[in-house]
Amino acid sequence: MVGPAGDGDAASRRAVRLRRRWDREAGAYDRGMAAAERRLFPGVRPLVCGLATGRTLEVAVGTGLNLAHYPTAVRDGRLTGVEWSPGMLRVARRRAAELGADVDLRLGDAQRLDLADDAYDTVVCTFSLCAIPDHRAALAEMVRVLRPGGLLVLADHVVSTAWPVRVLQAAADVVSVPLAGEHFRRRPLRWVLDAGLAVERHERTRAGVIEWVAARTPGPRAR
Ligand SMILES: C[S@@+](CC[C@H](N)C(=O)[O-])C[C@H]1O[C@@H](n2cnc3c(N)ncnc32)[C@H](O)[C@@H]1O
Repeated sequence: MVGPAGDGDAASRRAVRLRRRWDREAGAYDRGMAAAERRLFPGVRPLVCGLATGRTLEVAVGTGLNLAHYPTAVRDGRLTGVEWSPGMLRVARRRAAELGADVDLRLGDAQRLDLADDAYDTVVCTFSLCAIPDHRAALAEMVRVLRPGGLLVLADHVVSTAWPVRVLQAAADVVSVPLAGEHFRRRPLRWVLDAGLAVERHERTRAGVIEWVAARTPGPRAR
C-alpha cells in the first residue's frame, strides 16, 4: 500500500523531474513562446502586466518574458519573481540585467511560497497554472500573500468552449500530463470564483482557449 509518505516521495520525485525538464527547455523557451504568442495571444502580456500596481509578485516567472511589460514604478524595486527552475531563473536574471530592472528574482515553489501573508498589492501568474502540479495549492498561496483588496492577475491556456477542441485537449492531456506535466483542460477562473474573489476584468478568446482575468480579494479596495 502507498501511504502518505509514499505519495509525498512520488510527488517530490516528480517535481524534480519536471524542474529538470524546465531547466533543459530554458535556452529554447523564448523562441517557442514567441511563436505561440504571435498566433494565440498577442498583446496579452502588456495588458495584464500593465494592471500591476504597488508591491508585485510574479509566480513562476520563467525566463522573465513579462519583465519588460510592467510599469516602471513596479519594475524599479517593487517586483519579486519566484521560479522553481534554476535554468529558467538564470535567463530571467540575465533579462532583468539587460533591462536595467531592479527586481528580486528568487528560487521557490509556487505551491509553498516562502513569503509572508498579505505582503503584496498585486500577484501575477501567466501561462504557468497549466504546468504547476497542484495549481489549486498555488492559487491558494497567491491569495494568502495578497493583502485584502489586492489584485490577482492570471493568464493561461484553458479548456476550450468548443467541443471538438475539448476532444483534442483531452487527447493531448493523456500524453502531456504524465510526460511534461502540462495540463490543457484546467480553468483557474473556477477556483477564483469559488474562493470569493471579485472579477474586475475578464477576456476569453481563441475558441475559449486563451483566458485572462483580474480579480480582487475581499477587503479594502485598491490603494
Ligand atoms: C510555460 S512556463 C511560463 C513562464 C512564464 N510565466 C511565462 O509567462 O512565460 C511555466 C513555468 O512554470 C514554472 N513552474 C512550474 N511549476 C512550478 C512551481 N511549482 N513553482 C514555481 N515555478 C513553477 C516552470 O519552471 C516554468 O518556468
